[in-house]
Amino acid sequence: MRSQINSIVDELKRLRKNGLEHIFVSNESLRSLKLATKGIAQVVSEKEAKRAVAAIPERIRSATPEEFDRVLKEEPKVESRAPRNKGQDLGTPPGFQLPKGDKQKRWDALREIVLNCPTCQENVREGYQIVFGVGNLDADIFFCGEAPGADEEEKGEPFVGKAGQLLDKMINAMGLAREDVYIGNIMNWRPQLPTRVGNRPPTLEEIRFCLPYLKAQVEVVKPKLIVALGATAAKGLLGPSSFRSLGEVKGEWREFEKTPVLATYHPSYLLRNDSKRDKRSAWEDLLKVMERCGLPISDRQRGYFL
Ligand code: URA
Repeated sequence: MRSQINSIVDELKRLRKNGLEHIFVSNESLRSLKLATKGIAQVVSEKEAKRAVAAIPERIRSATPEEFDRVLKEEPKVESRAPRNKGQDLGTPPGFQLPKGDKQKRWDALREIVLNCPTCQENVREGYQIVFGVGNLDADIFFCGEAPGADEEEKGEPFVGKAGQLLDKMINAMGLAREDVYIGNIMNWRPQLPTRVGNRPPTLEEIRFCLPYLKAQVEVVKPKLIVALGATAAKGLLGPSSFRSLGEVKGEWREFEKTPVLATYHPSYLLRNDSKRDKRSAWEDLLKVMERCGLPISDRQRGYFL
């Protein structure tokens, strides 16, 4: 198997040297590769793969193996559609003042500021969207995630993909609806990768730049508490050197600008690790949140995942 993988790698290197940036690999092949490489190969969703394929010029996509090298050489070098800035040196974090008025007026103004932020716009790939928080401006609970993924940058709304569906279920299990809470992210654009597929966590620089926007959302909504979903959200809210592994702070009350914060597992982690123990552990965190908000808790709810 090792020699087959080496041949694949050599062929990929050859293609890359010839200027090819993306190849289409079926989900089945990706799964086999992942198994064979013990998880080193990254499996991306079919949707992401299709999007990547759509970015390859038709002449290259439809070339036969014999035509391939010639077609590639003939292909004019095009200006990459990747954003100019790749998460480094984003400049001074934004400073702004919100108008006086009610929550809605202040939130509307903040949303406008974020959607028109030149740095955010510069970092969002053409055709996709900056993602600002959504939800109930009178919410007691503010769920804070990491950064938009492929589905979110397409829809311009946080947590609308698979992780979002699980977050909705978690909210429902608490006896609430998505409309009852506020949902935001540490970052307002999808952290970009040169490959255009897959996700990466935000850099400290990206977190530092977007933090004023998150802080302002917390100031407008004034929730009773924040649930930090995953280590990146917790690091963004509690500070980059506040812990080494999520386990050190998970399930414990901390603070962000005087608002109580409880960190728990990110829904994507729970989707990847289908263990009852992790689900129960995340659920116990949410029970603490419900208690602190004074939400009713039935015996049935107390027993979930036991
Ligand atoms: N993961 C996040 O952290 N945020 C989203 O909006 C979607 C997935």
